[in-house]
Amino acid sequence: MAEPIARLDDVSVRFGERVVLQNCSLEVPEGAITCIIGLSGAGKSTILRLLDGLLLPNSGHVYLRENDICHMRESQLIEMRTKIGFAFQFAALFDSMTVGDNVSLPLREHTTLSEKEIYAIVMHTLESVGLSHTYDNMPSELSGGMLKRAGFARAVVTNPELVLYDEPTTGVDPIVTHLLTDTIKRLRKQLNATAVVISHDLQSIYMMADYVAMLFEGAIIANGTVDEVRKSTNPIVQQFLQGSEVGPIPL
Ligand SMILES: Nc1ncnc2c1ncn2[C@@H]1O[C@H](COP(=O)(O)OP(=O)(O)O)[C@@H](O)[C@H]1O
Ligand SMILES: [Mg+2]
Repeated sequence: MAEPIARLDDVSVRFGERVVLQNCSLEVPEGAITCIIGLSGAGKSTILRLLDGLLLPNSGHVYLRENDICHMRESQLIEMRTKIGFAFQFAALFDSMTVGDNVSLPLREHTTLSEKEIYAIVMHTLESVGLSHTYDNMPSELSGGMLKRAGFARAVVTNPELVLYDEPTTGVDPIVTHLLTDTIKRLRKQLNATAVVISHDLQSIYMMADYVAMLFEGAIIANGTVDEVRKSTNPIVQQFLQGSEVGPIPL
């Protein structure tokens, strides 16, 4: 495996009585796409929020390179987040702003670039997701797949080192799934960045993942290359990959 750009070390997260992550460890290899799989409610989105410093663990540590985000000051956290792009599950564009303004937002907020410079970067970013013609459109005028790609554009417009995608292909048809998967792969290469993708879509995972990690009952129970995880002898992993009702996973 490549050197990790980010790492969860023995992390536990509780919400009230509910233990979501328990002694969970995960390494995110740099320059690769890591897919996190697991049941609904397993804590996958929670892992992304930890990696982005939006949530602190109850115990354990979260590292971005050698920096422990649990010990960062607010100003350091904000600085760190500028190196991380987050494509949220529901695109989460502002309805009242054009696509161009939505994608410009991170640059207007976190840089001192001129409007002319911002326009050039935003246009270039929209081009790289095939949406340069939508600069002046409102989000409501876009299809589901286009909205997702606009969300990707906003996530990568600051040229981040690490991009987090939360269920980028949930709720779209197989053709759009293919296009979005391809876009994630292409963006990873273009940015020379690292990606963590949460997905349920096995075909899309097999198409894009360098590494797969499976989260189950609070911890990572399998982690490796796609081939390694597909060959896992863990019956829970096999049941999940086969989508079978029969097996050790409680339904
Ligand atoms: N802020 C929160 N407060 C209380 N419970 C939460 C909060 N965030 C997540 N949870 C709970 O934690 C569990 C894991 O959530 P999540 O990480 O969103 O799962 P996944 O993304 O794998 O579906 C769920 O049971 C969810 O209801
Ligand atoms: Mg989720």
